[in-house]
Amino acid sequence: MGDTRSMPSPSSSASPPPDRAGALLAWYDVHARRLPWRIGPAARKAGDRPDPYRVWLSEIMLQQTTVAAVGPYFGRFVARWPKVADLAAAETDSVMQEWAGLGYYSRARNLKRCAEIVAAEHGGRFPGSAAALSTLPGIGPYTAGAIAAIAFDEQVPVVDGNVERVVTRLERIATPLPKAKAEVRDVVAAMTPARRPGCFAQAMMDLGATICTPRRPACALCPLMEGCAARIAGDQELYPVKAPKKDKPTRTGVAYVAVRADGAVLLRRRPERGLLGGMAEVPGAGWAAGKGETEDEDPPLRADWRRLPAPVRHTFTHFHLTLDVYQAEVGRDIAAPADAWWSPRDRLDGEALPTVMRKVVAAALEG
Ligand code: ADE
Repeated sequence: MGDTRSMPSPSSSASPPPDRAGALLAWYDVHARRLPWRIGPAARKAGDRPDPYRVWLSEIMLQQTTVAAVGPYFGRFVARWPKVADLAAAETDSVMQEWAGLGYYSRARNLKRCAEIVAAEHGGRFPGSAAALSTLPGIGPYTAGAIAAIAFDEQVPVVDGNVERVVTRLERIATPLPKAKAEVRDVVAAMTPARRPGCFAQAMMDLGATICTPRRPACALCPLMEGCAARIAGDQELYPVKAPKKDKPTRTGVAYVAVRADGAVLLRRRPERGLLGGMAEVPGAGWAAGKGETEDEDPPLRADWRRLPAPVRHTFTHFHLTLDVYQAEVGRDIAAPADAWWSPRDRLDGEALPTVMRKVVAAALEG
């Protein structure tokens, strides 16, 4: 049998740039993670695209949260609100309740506002470009690019933490992050193909999450191994180089858990603006105090308050919080103060309580 490959012409003697996108897409077609907001391999092959509503919802949830943690929340949201118009029509508090535990609660408030705008001003259809998407609440440049690429196949670079790791290794970029972001983005922009840019973006994410891992990357399985400068040099784990992190301050405060004789717990709502805005909490204080000071607040009821032997600790993005927790049992006929309510024990799970408050309530009910 004859060799059917064409001979290189004299002018093409220099080796062509590696087809990274092609290699990565071929890998993705076999190894893509099955995630609830994605379409399956058969639909992908047929050229289908995922529902923009599901893509948007998943991208907002994934902004600060892992794929594993987002899965069950995503499932509950789409079961309860299958379309953006359903979410737009929902009670804000029920959205906050479903969001409770995911953290970064301003995302949930912006999610609701964004759904209302898409339903009211865009006829229930998400705009199809990164530029238009980025005018909506909660959609910054990264998320706009991700939605535009994944749901609308716009050829835009999409760079998350996984992609930064892949690219700084591919090109052995020694500039520390975050300074290297522009350079990384340029590399991704040059790699992103006109065909299937959404699959390409997700393939880069999957490669970073499953092969090009922070420690002990599985280079032997990597579709981009041949052109990877760090693998060739053998120093993959040195990338990305990161600027040293600033130490987080520790703030201290108090939390009061009043438990009624029937087991109900006294809750109130946090102000709409600011940290954990609009979420439920037990009365207390401790969010604004600087290092070395404790922010105090009087107990919400007259009772025999007892301090738990150990404080509750929680870490937010910018600070650690240490809360002294006080607990008191009170009679059935004690009225809730004006801004608070008694939440029956079997309803606590459904309250919009952030994780730090769940820890406080659990410590008080156990202690
Ligand atoms: N992280 C952010 N967006 C993602 C996506 N679409 N798939 C996997 N991980 C992601």
